Amino acid sequence: SPLVIAIDGPSGSGKSSTSRGVAARLDLAHLDTGSMYRAVACRLAHLGIDPKTNPLDTIEVARTCRLEIDTSADHDLVLVDGEDVTEEIRLPETSAKVSAVATIQPVRDALTARMRQIAAERGRIVMEGRDITTVVCPDAQVRVLLVADPAVRIARRQAELGENVDMAQVIDSIVRRDRDDSTVSTFEEPADGVAVVDSTHLNLAQVIDAVIDLVPQ
Ligand code: CDP
Repeated sequence: SPLVIAIDGPSGSGKSSTSRGVAARLDLAHLDTGSMYRAVACRLAHLGIDPKTNPLDTIEVARTCRLEIDTSADHDLVLVDGEDVTEEIRLPETSAKVSAVATIQPVRDALTARMRQIAAERGRIVMEGRDITTVVCPDAQVRVLLVADPAVRIARRQAELGENVDMAQVIDSIVRRDRDDSTVSTFEEPADGVAVVDSTHLNLAQVIDAVIDLVPQ
């Protein structure tokens, strides 16, 4: 039977590792919806389209580009128009560009439709993002908002990126994106029926357990 687990959370809340962990434990598919916004941002950069000055072409690309996203829990291959952007979507340059793409409503509508289609095709899936519990899959059987103190989120993102990371850039990518994304979703206020899991003082295994505990038996 279908099972959709919707997990929203801000940058560094641990939603990617949590979502993958939950999907692996329960043998579900996994879709990182942020990777779709990131892939569109990469495609736009390759085409020389600036979303801030050229929203119309931006919307056209979001509607028509071919997105191929691996939905297995232990893989994260992402192709846009046949080009492998798996690495490029994670670069700080891409993170800095993605909010400008994601705040254009017709872009969101186009990607939301694709997300719902993937969820319907897979049937049993963990969907992670920013507006999955509220907009993309409000009828999901399990809806979780993952939160954590900003200092902890910054430390986690730093650990993920390694030693030679530019701390100013890490802090910027968290704090500035919280602000830039705030028109898209509210992170502190869960919608009705959405469970809040605060990972500030939990390790990954504990967070995965907390989400799995929410799955109806
Ligand atoms: O790196 P981080 O986990 O913060 O972000 P992500 O999940 O990869 O998402 C990157 C960006 O895509 C976010 O900062 C949002 O601007 C946008 N996004 C969104 O608007 N809605 C989603 N469902 C997922 C991502």
